[in-house]
Amino acid sequence: MKKKIAVLTGAGVSAESGISTFRDSGGLWENYNVEDVASIEGWRRNPGLVLDFYNARRKQLASARPNAAHLAIAGLEKDHEVTVITQNVDNLHERAGSTRIIHLHGELTKVRPEDCCNEADGYSEAGVFDIGYGEIHLGDKGPDGARLRPHIVWFGEAVPKISRAIEVVEKADILLIVGTSLQVYPAAGLYRYAGIRTPIYIIDPKDVPVHDNRIVHIREVATRGMEKFVGIISGK
Ligand code: APR
Repeated sequence: MKKKIAVLTGAGVSAESGISTFRDSGGLWENYNVEDVASIEGWRRNPGLVLDFYNARRKQLASARPNAAHLAIAGLEKDHEVTVITQNVDNLHERAGSTRIIHLHGELTKVRPEDCCNEADGYSEAGVFDIGYGEIHLGDKGPDGARLRPHIVWFGEAVPKISRAIEVVEKADILLIVGTSLQVYPAAGLYRYAGIRTPIYIIDPKDVPVHDNRIVHIREVATRGMEKFVGIISGK
């Protein structure tokens, strides 16, 4: 039977594509100061450093490919109505073929003028544009002359797409969570919006910080975990 599946993903789903996670040992936040490169204060203090950080992430993404977990998530669309809610700023879900994706924390391949998309104006992505895997440099300006910034939600900023994500989780028949440490809110609290009888599957090789009798923890890496998940929901 066709089900509504909400899939919340984090850095772990892209780990087997060679993209570093944030909080594992060797993760990005071991080598960079998160306040410097991923907060609105860091951007105000030293925008050049922030641009260099995201230029490097974009370059890494150019040579990464979707892995079997991204492909299996996209493959769920064959039989189900699937919405991916991702904290990842990479484009590997798109490249794997998923068609409904909510990027909670923005997108690496996009930039926008600094004065665009303010919540006060009603959130719109009209000024956002694609730069692919290219770089942006200090002083680069958008069509209206305003300074360009990465289209990323930084610490200290609102998460405009969270309300859409909540609606998707509320309506889901199944919630699948893959490769997130569930440390960063509001994404980490999304599972609480699942219906009281909605099963929640979590794929992560490590312990998960949430305890709820609806949760089935598949303690595997994303690729192997997705094989198991597909087996479970197809009754194999
Ligand atoms: N398969 C599945 N899960 C994995 C794998 C793998 N191969 N490798 C690691 N993991 C798990 C880790 O055990 C951990 O629980 O992925 C999770 C990664 O957690 P984080 O590094 O904290 O990444 P994430 O949860 O996506 O971070 C959330 O924090 O800094 C911000 O904006 C950034 O979107 C990011 C947010």
